[in-house]
Amino acid sequence: MTDSLTIRDNRTGEEHEIEIVDGTIRAADLKKVGGLATYDPGFVNTASCRSAITYIDGEQGILEYRGYPIEQLAEQSSFLEVCYLLLNGELPTSDQLAQWTHDVTHHTFLHENIKSLMTGFRYDAHPMGMMMSSVSALSTFYPHASDISDPENRYLQITRMIAKMPTIGAFAYRHSQGKPYIYPDNELSYCANFLSMLFKMSERDYAADERLVKALEVLFILHADHEQNCSANAVRSVGSSQVDPYSAVAAGIGALYGPLHGGANEAVLKMLRRIGSTDNIPSFIEGVKAGNERLMGFGHRVYKNYDPRATIIKKATEDVFEVTGVNPLLEIAQELEKIALEDEYFVSRKLYPNVDFYSGLIYEALEFPPEMFTVLFAIGRTPGWLAQWQELVTDKEQKIARPKQIYTGERQREFVPIDQR
Ligand code: CMC
Repeated sequence: MTDSLTIRDNRTGEEHEIEIVDGTIRAADLKKVGGLATYDPGFVNTASCRSAITYIDGEQGILEYRGYPIEQLAEQSSFLEVCYLLLNGELPTSDQLAQWTHDVTHHTFLHENIKSLMTGFRYDAHPMGMMMSSVSALSTFYPHASDISDPENRYLQITRMIAKMPTIGAFAYRHSQGKPYIYPDNELSYCANFLSMLFKMSERDYAADERLVKALEVLFILHADHEQNCSANAVRSVGSSQVDPYSAVAAGIGALYGPLHGGANEAVLKMLRRIGSTDNIPSFIEGVKAGNERLMGFGHRVYKNYDPRATIIKKATEDVFEVTGVNPLLEIAQELEKIALEDEYFVSRKLYPNVDFYSGLIYEALEFPPEMFTVLFAIGRTPGWLAQWQELVTDKEQKIARPKQIYTGERQREFVPIDQR
């Protein structure tokens, strides 16, 4: 058996042989079949790149970064170690990790003009909008970032972005609270520093509960990459024009902002509040089944089984609630999950809880307002976006992203002067 596909074009009776490589055919090869193209809104069955970063088996619920199972990384690794792994392909030695941690830690401060830019937002500005604009503005502070062909320069910009995202996120949060922005404390770990910038008030040193630091570390690790999702695709698509990485990542933040992607955990909390009590769950489920709305935090384009990240988060939820006390919405979430997992509608469509179903509950227990949830997702996802971007710009096969269309509009009309319309 040869690795090829024979296509018979019934319009002409001609047969064409097309090579199969890695379980795919090249869409460009279809051109020889009478100019045929593929039509794939939402890229449901189209590979846009070769990637060695993240492996997902949606049927079995497997997620691996560079071959390491997510469960092992969440349990044994730190977020910065995972960043290094995603970006470099290997786990760091202790010297490499020390250097990487040093480099990231020494880029956490923002230029004061970025701070001024952030203070210019309205009091009720959504922190994701503030983050997207601030990251995009960073490209003007580091114009050299546009030299994307120089590996050392790429390393510098990648380090800066991973270092500055928590600072931007924390400033956006303090802005919404009307509280003074807190500068980074470079004596603290990545996550402990982030919590300090968020919650420090008049105390000299802010020391977050170690269990909460660990929970945040786990959440960031779980969100660090997820192969060709909507925002990674946005980063790659914009990055394919060879723009600087700040502009490409700003596009990723925009994609993540939407409720079908990173905004889902905010939507989950709103949904749980609206349901209000376990008594209201049956009528809510009926409404979902009737197509009136979606059960937020359920379903995934890739996972047709329990999202492995949801399992880990569910466990982290218990650890966090040990420190903060139980969130009353947990009971509604658990009951909802139980009912949905038994209901034919959800079972037949393979709709299981995804990462966002429980993450919102943890974030709320950590006292984040819902608008901040997607910001936390964005900080966690930054190494993934940058690893995807770096892979893109070093991939000789890649081209500027420019899909085809099926034109459905009018043709060759005569212009009608305005007084005759
Ligand atoms: N509640 C109710 N029905 C659903 C849901 C849901 N959450 N998700 C999918 N369905 C139904 C959908 O109506 C359709 O039914 P039918 O075949 O009868 O028309 C079927 O399941 C297939 O849905 P789809 O829209 O074709 O699936 P998709 O792969 O395009 O969408 C999704 C994936 C994540 C956008 C979708 O499941 C969804 O909207 N979920 C709720 C939002 C959410 O939790 N998003 C977070 C995703 S995980 C975090 C991330 O990676 O960003």
